[in-house]
Amino acid sequence: MDVITKVKEMQTRVLSIKDRKESIGFVPTMGALHEGHVSLIRSARNENDELIVSIYLNPTQFDNKDDFDNYPHQLDKDIEIVERENADVVFAPDTEEIYPEGFCTYVTQGKLIDSLCGRLRPGHFNGVTTIVTKLFNIIRPDRAYFGQKDFQQSIVIKKLVADLNMNIDIKVLPTVRDEDGLALSSRNKRLNPEERHSALCIYGSLLKAKSMFASNIKDSKEIIEEMTSIIKKAKHTRIDYISIVNAHTLEDVSSINGKAVAAVAVWIGNTRLIDNLILE
Ligand code: PAF
Repeated sequence: MDVITKVKEMQTRVLSIKDRKESIGFVPTMGALHEGHVSLIRSARNENDELIVSIYLNPTQFDNKDDFDNYPHQLDKDIEIVERENADVVFAPDTEEIYPEGFCTYVTQGKLIDSLCGRLRPGHFNGVTTIVTKLFNIIRPDRAYFGQKDFQQSIVIKKLVADLNMNIDIKVLPTVRDEDGLALSSRNKRLNPEERHSALCIYGSLLKAKSMFASNIKDSKEIIEEMTSIIKKAKHTRIDYISIVNAHTLEDVSSINGKAVAAVAVWIGNTRLIDNLILE
């Protein structure tokens, strides 16, 4: 496996893959890899000739300096994990490579970023759509892999690809959870044992939404009230949002008819976690 840090070198490597008419599977990450990333990497390995994994902590998608400064770093360990999964290339550029002096072009999106995390994290999705567009342009993948835990991100990226005519198949894979249900996230590393325990309320609240929906309760307000009370009962929690949205438009729905998503963002101490479940 090769570790490439320069954009030019990465582009030359991609050209030679394209010359051989081989397919490229791409898993973009910000590092601090866990089993959720590994599941994306394994699918990409199975479905493509060449597998490229990027590791780049993208500063432009952080709306909070503390979150960026405290994001876990473990590049050597991440490279070992990716190598174990038989990737062909790790692309790990530094910020001067990605945003050289004078960089001033950003990709922005309308509507889909007006709800959920987009509403509360100004600039976040412009950072995501910009870095993902750059990485797609450099790596020119046939397929790119994302996790359902970042549900809004997956919808935003599908729309980005459709609107800008990028010929890339976006694969969204199920959220990977610890045995007790907590969705895997690089940010979980920051939780102390008591916070880790409190964080279980997130999945608990989503399961409640699922069981209410299964028993034919379709009123979002009623479901959200129950979810709120579960999360408020747990220690160290501060709710950013609890929403039930249309799974395609991401607009709030007052009553669930068709595919919807219950989505939650909660601060556990100083760590913001998100999770969701599809209700259909
Ligand atoms: O989901 C992530 O880790 C990031 O948002 C991504 C897609 C790698 C872009 O920086």
